[in-house]
Amino acid sequence: MKRIGILTGGGDAPGLNAVIRAAVKTAILQCGCEVFGVRDGYDGFLSKHGIIPLGLNEVSGILPRGGTILGAANRGNPFARKVIRDGREVVVDMSNELVDSMRHSGMDALLVLGGDGTLRIAHELYQKGIPVIGVPKTIDNDIGGTEVTFGFDTALNVATDAIDRLHTTAEAHHRVMVLELMGREAGFIALHAGVSGGADVILIPEIPFRFDSIIAKIRQRVERGSLFSILAVSEGAKPLGGTEVFSRGGDEIYVPRLGGIGQIVGDYVEKQGYEARVTVLGHLQRGGTPTAFDRWLATRYGAAAVRLAARGGFDRMVSLSAGQITDVALEEALAVPRRVDLNEDAVITARGMGISFGDE
Ligand code: F6P
Repeated sequence: MKRIGILTGGGDAPGLNAVIRAAVKTAILQCGCEVFGVRDGYDGFLSKHGIIPLGLNEVSGILPRGGTILGAANRGNPFARKVIRDGREVVVDMSNELVDSMRHSGMDALLVLGGDGTLRIAHELYQKGIPVIGVPKTIDNDIGGTEVTFGFDTALNVATDAIDRLHTTAEAHHRVMVLELMGREAGFIALHAGVSGGADVILIPEIPFRFDSIIAKIRQRVERGSLFSILAVSEGAKPLGGTEVFSRGGDEIYVPRLGGIGQIVGDYVEKQGYEARVTVLGHLQRGGTPTAFDRWLATRYGAAAVRLAARGGFDRMVSLSAGQITDVALEEALAVPRRVDLNEDAVITARGMGISFGDE
């Protein structure tokens, strides 16, 4: 192996730069390879100045930085790319052009740092001959085949800090504070932050909720003398028999955007006579410096991805299993997305401590 490429696709997540740094250092110092960065996800292969050399100088000082020095794009699917042809916007398959560009660049391996969408594209590109290695990235922690993705711990810490802050003002004003958190169809951020921050109600996509059950919990607390409540609500949470709430629909380029369930819950709570305020934490969960855990995990993933490439372990993804870095087939990792297991310790612990999931 002489030349490695790295790209970061999908939404950004804290720790991307730590992976890039570890991969570049390992590739140069351990394997004696050249490294190239692909800008703005897969788009970099299709644009004029989209491939840049990455040396030790380029990765110096990036370990604590959020975002990605390579740029990211969550609408850069080469199999369905929006382009202007004859003055009209059309969606075309440009995967063959991408394959040509990769061959032309002389890369022997491509490290793809991404979530399920980006990794699925990587797996499809492997069928076209691109030697890919996946690195699981997302704050949602919803990728199969690994115990944890990098980025999740940072988001969780931001969300827990937000709950701590809401606690003090909720208590002062005797209010119900609703905090809407990211996670798509997985409730890990709301569950872990809710438990870590001491929320009274946690609503996650895996457990459809009933409005009257939420009110019963708030009322019970008031009767016991706790005049405030904290609700951690996952953006993908939905009422029993209802559907997820979207702030914008999807099309062939954009995925639908979840958002709005927190406000709906807050409005209902107010109608029942409890003063409520709603906070949507949004992209604050994705920004800023990664936690030590995410830097540690990202660094191990980055180095392991290069070692895996050197062994020719293509179409695979580095993963964490029982605290050790290992790897799994991309197909296996993508087969079943990771969701909160209702029979696992976290949910059982929360229920046992009186936290409501809005289902009882
Ligand atoms: O997948 C990461 C994530 O932050 C989700 O939690 C959220 O639903 C989505 O991306 C937001 O995407 P965008 O950055 O396109 O608004």
